[in-house]
Amino acid sequence: MSEFVYQANLVPYTRAELVEKVAANLSTSRFEHCLRVEQTAIELARQNGADVERAAIAGLVHDYAKQLPDETFIAAIQANHFDPDLLNYGNAIWHGVVGAYFIERDLGIHDDIILNAIRRHTIGAPEMTLIDQILFVADFIEPGRDFPGIEQARQTAKADLAAGVRYEILNTLSFLIKGQKKIYPKTIDTYNAWVPTQEQ
Ligand SMILES: [Fe+2]
Ligand SMILES: [Fe+2]
Repeated sequence: MSEFVYQANLVPYTRAELVEKVAANLSTSRFEHCLRVEQTAIELARQNGADVERAAIAGLVHDYAKQLPDETFIAAIQANHFDPDLLNYGNAIWHGVVGAYFIERDLGIHDDIILNAIRRHTIGAPEMTLIDQILFVADFIEPGRDFPGIEQARQTAKADLAAGVRYEILNTLSFLIKGQKKIYPKTIDTYNAWVPTQEQ
């Protein structure tokens, strides 16, 4: 990919500097996932008339906190007055909801549109901005992903971004339920807002 040039002062670094900071915090495979999410987010932003630079930055940094130790997240949840119920969940939820805190602190990104997309990439939200939807879907369909239904997920999202969001929420909830996993309540709120097609 040709180097994406940041022009909107959303981050106090060049892309090359930001890439270096993200790479330093992640394993090679996780970092490469971030590059693919960046690229996929750029494509989805172009297709959907969204802010390409915000989508690119959110994609690149979204998993920055993914490999921090649990104790670091727990300390941040307690010290910064996050919802204490988060302590009943784990990294899969924390690295988005709380990860945005580390991204703001360490990477100097203060833009709420970017930070909210990162907060919401693990749980969604009843109302999601275009950038929220782009990051949520890009993370799910990036070219390195391989799971049953991935091709349908890609086709659905490319035809209609919101349909891609619905597909992903349904797929993720089904997976959690089949695995008898605990579900973070806000994820259920996301499901209720996006997926049911008729009032019960
Ligand atoms: Fe993530
Ligand atoms: Fe990710």
